[in-house]
Amino acid sequence: MYSNPYNYDLENRDVVQDIPFWNEAARRYEAGRVLELACGTGRLAIPLARAGFSVAGLDLDAGMLERCRVKLVTEKLGTQDNLTLHQGDMSNFELNQCFDMVFIGFNSVEHLISLQEEIGAFQCANRHLPQGGRFIIDVRLSNLGLLALASDGYPATKLGGLSEYAPGGFGAAGYASRRYFQDDQYHGSHSKNKSGSHVLKEVSDDGRHVYFPREMRLLYMYCGFEVEDVYGDYSFGEFTVSSPRMIFVGRKCRDAGA
Ligand SMILES: C[S@@+](CC[C@H](N)C(=O)[O-])C[C@H]1O[C@@H](n2cnc3c(N)ncnc32)[C@H](O)[C@@H]1O
Repeated sequence: MYSNPYNYDLENRDVVQDIPFWNEAARRYEAGRVLELACGTGRLAIPLARAGFSVAGLDLDAGMLERCRVKLVTEKLGTQDNLTLHQGDMSNFELNQCFDMVFIGFNSVEHLISLQEEIGAFQCANRHLPQGGRFIIDVRLSNLGLLALASDGYPATKLGGLSEYAPGGFGAAGYASRRYFQDDQYHGSHSKNKSGSHVLKEVSDDGRHVYFPREMRLLYMYCGFEVEDVYGDYSFGEFTVSSPRMIFVGRKCRDAGA
């Protein structure tokens, strides 16, 4: 899915609205030590390190981390010193250190597909925080109209972007046909075939879990957090029915699983 980290940065070069939010969150929650889960190429982690926070970034993909390292080379020494990278799975990791704030930005929590993975990530975050530490997640609020359409699958749509950005051109644009599976809140470009009651799934690696607000709240509660705030945008605005984002701030109130 993230096979070309360079293109990831090109495609997302205009996505900057959330950067001040995370810097302000770290300041607000007095988080000297920050852990970003699914940090990718450092789009959020590098600005945090630049702002003087001590940041650890964890990502599954070696290529995304390598791209982050390449970008770090052009940063000042202080920034380089402030950022440590780890390869690992956010649903099951142990860094043997504590942070004041752990976060998952930019919809990356959608990569936790199964309930087991979701709970694993929340419990790992909990274990890496002291009592009172914050676990913050920023994820989109799904468009129910589109999901309803996609419940039956909708026709292949063009994927924009790459051919415009990549140096030398990227060849033909891609097409994807998306489908939403209500049974397990899964949205992806894969097909599902049924044979009697037996369900065969062809899962592409482009799938994402679709989150609903109450599910998120329950995950926090189940895994040792009280939900302290829910914001609806990157200006710390109230979460309402028309909010574009849901940004949950969980405060650790007990050890996970205890
Ligand atoms: C949308 S990118 C976000 C990267 C970065 N946080 C940003 O805001 O640009 C999602 C990232 O999640 C990573 N990822 C997916 N599943 C993961 C997992 N189970 N554990 C850790 N990282 C994961 C991918 O490798 C990718 O770098």
